[in-house]
Amino acid sequence: MKGGVGKTTTAVQLAAGIAARGQRVLLIDADPQGNISHVLGVDAPATIRELLTGDATLDRVIVDGVRPNLSVITATPAAFALDSQLAGAVQRETLLSRKLQPAADAGRFDIIVLDSSPAMGLLTYNALLAATEIVMPVGMDSLALVGARQTLDGVREVRSLWPDRRLTLSAVVPTGVNPQTHAARAAMAALEADEEMSERLFKQGIRQCIDLTYAAASRQTIWEYAPQSRAADDYNALLAFLHYK
Ligand SMILES: Nc1ncnc2c1ncn2[C@@H]1O[C@H](COP(=O)(O)OP(=O)(O)OP(=O)(O)O)[C@@H](O)[C@H]1O
Ligand SMILES: [Mg+2]
Repeated sequence: MKGGVGKTTTAVQLAAGIAARGQRVLLIDADPQGNISHVLGVDAPATIRELLTGDATLDRVIVDGVRPNLSVITATPAAFALDSQLAGAVQRETLLSRKLQPAADAGRFDIIVLDSSPAMGLLTYNALLAATEIVMPVGMDSLALVGARQTLDGVREVRSLWPDRRLTLSAVVPTGVNPQTHAARAAMAALEADEEMSERLFKQGIRQCIDLTYAAASRQTIWEYAPQSRAADDYNALLAFLHYK
């Protein structure tokens, strides 16, 4: 629930990192900003919007071979209209999970990574209801902490409205960490003091690293652009924290 804290960056590096470890990954852009198609250089014939409106099949919106083992479903700003377009649809919050079911049944992917937007809109609900685990990036400032708590409120709401869904917090990920600053130390202390977040806190964090921005600008993952960078080290450590060796 906070913009620019590294959600897309983390989704892309985790998806690419897991794919590089040999698992079949589907990365889904559930944010109408549509950043993933830019960051990975994907040109798709149809997007998540057409999937949810029923104008395109799952097979048509999945772009295979974006990288070895990595497939992608993209978004574009046209998806901003989904909230009103689907206003009358039945169980519209679970559309995405139902549309993905054939891929799950066929065992087509080992894992699906969803990138969400900083707003609690229809697409975010769809992402939360398609997901079983949450990885929550948190920026190192007090507003990001407010956003993190709002996210957890949203998760609690989803759990109470759809009690049959399994939705666990797998990692709270401090991002853009500059350990020298007072703000970062204060934010880290607040995360450690929070009962719910401290339990799954990735204490090492993802340090500030400009290579992440350059990698995105050159449409590369951090593993491609700067495999020796501290961002690559930090995301490797996060993968290990999530049990991807
Ligand atoms: N650890 C980091 N160090 C330095 N820059 C970073 C780091 N992580 C992300 N960035 C940069 O910060 C900017 C925002 O990151 P990103 O797009 O991943 O955030 P987001 O949470 O997805 O934003 P939004 O809420 O708009 O979807 C990007 O330019 C990205 O390259
Ligand atoms: Mg984003």
